[in-house]
Amino acid sequence: MTEVLITNDFFEIATEKFIEIANEAIAERGKFIVALAGGSTPKELYKLLANKNLAWEKVIFFFGDERNVPIDSVESNFKMANETLFLPLKINHNNIYRWQTEHETPKKVAEDYSEKINSIAPTFDLILLGMGNDGHTASLFPYSIALGETDKAAVENWVEQQNSWRFTITFTTINNARNVIFLVKGEDKAKILHEVLEGEFRPKRLPSQLVKPENGKLLWLLDENVAKLLTTYGN
Ligand code: 6PG
Repeated sequence: MTEVLITNDFFEIATEKFIEIANEAIAERGKFIVALAGGSTPKELYKLLANKNLAWEKVIFFFGDERNVPIDSVESNFKMANETLFLPLKINHNNIYRWQTEHETPKKVAEDYSEKINSIAPTFDLILLGMGNDGHTASLFPYSIALGETDKAAVENWVEQQNSWRFTITFTTINNARNVIFLVKGEDKAKILHEVLEGEFRPKRLPSQLVKPENGKLLWLLDENVAKLLTTYGN
């Protein structure tokens, strides 16, 4: 089931949805397993969540993707979440599963993370995703090899456009989640969002089109600026 929600209370709604899904998972299964998004958009969400009441000791954190950098790099998705969410909430580091980018090769980093997902999080309660203005999500970039990965839970992915390795969960993992929330805002992504949601199905060029949870719920959480070119959703 796919829902498109257009709101200018973007981060407040994102916070509410996160807490709602978390409480449901904890009530039903005693824990909440979430994959955090990277990039800049989620930063404000994590800051708001750090002030919310939740059984945080029952939350298990993964990351949808990571850059090929040390954890103290300004580029690190782990560093951003650690500073905005984990440290303020004093999250037990045993409940945080980060990509161990210190491993000797990108392949080893990805194999290690795949093993962790397969053993601890075969089905995520929630996966948060961003979308780039090229239509990528997580680190699943246009025309990259990882788009076609169907067996592994997580892979290393060479990103030609950035001349660098990235680490990413695969669409197999994403589409097996109970809930997926895309967090997309800002006028600069309005054109690509219109193409992804209302244009021709061209998944190699627009990887975000491959996010289709098999049994889970998909929510596109959008602000009014990014949604302004949409014709079949909203006002
Ligand atoms: C990353 C992300 C990536 C991000 C989009 C949007 O590691 O950069 O996971 O997929 O979500 O590029 O990034 P912004 O939120 O910064 O626009």
